[in-house]
Amino acid sequence: MSFLEMAEARYSVRDYTDKKVEQEKLKKILEAAHVAPTAANKQPARLVVVQEEEGLKKIGKAANIYGAPLAIIVCSDHTKAWTRPFDQKKTTDIDATILTDHMMMEAAELGLGSVWICYFKPDVIRQEFQLPDTLEPVNILAIGYANGSPADPKRHVTQRIPLDELVYYENL
Ligand SMILES: Cc1cc2nc3c(=O)[nH]c(=O)nc-3n(C[C@H](O)[C@H](O)[C@H](O)COP(=O)(O)O)c2cc1C
Repeated sequence: MSFLEMAEARYSVRDYTDKKVEQEKLKKILEAAHVAPTAANKQPARLVVVQEEEGLKKIGKAANIYGAPLAIIVCSDHTKAWTRPFDQKKTTDIDATILTDHMMMEAAELGLGSVWICYFKPDVIRQEFQLPDTLEPVNILAIGYANGSPADPKRHVTQRIPLDELVYYENL
């Protein structure tokens, strides 16, 4: 399957079976995060892997992870991220998000479902997982085996804006 075919087939999974994610697959997902690029190679992201019952209960206080057996909290450190000198923009979130996307696509390649979650209570995550002040939880990626039938890979025709609305050549 080409990358584009895999990207078309991937969809947000909001119902999971009880099957745990194999540790070899988790390792590959984490390797995909490891090789992700970050601005100026500053590598400000840190990952909290949650797969034990106690941890899943803790994460459940902050977010709905739809019964997934595995969740990865993608955090990023403001003090480590690169700052653009012209406007002081920090790439904290951008770097964390590239890692998240790498992991999401690796999970898809491994036959796993996932859903990206930003609807969570950051203060609860901070407290439950005792994050240092410099580390911001940016994304949660819930991962597991999908229950039910997959989404149609051709759904983007109706579920995305047309390509010519997305893309402009030379001028907006
Ligand atoms: C930055 C970001 C945040 C998201 N947050 C949530 C979330 O909190 N809960 C949820 O169920 N889905 C969340 N999603 C999933 C989107 O709703 C989903 O990707 C989008 O509707 C397109 O559907 P698809 O992934 O099935 O193609 C998020 C996706 C992204 C990229």
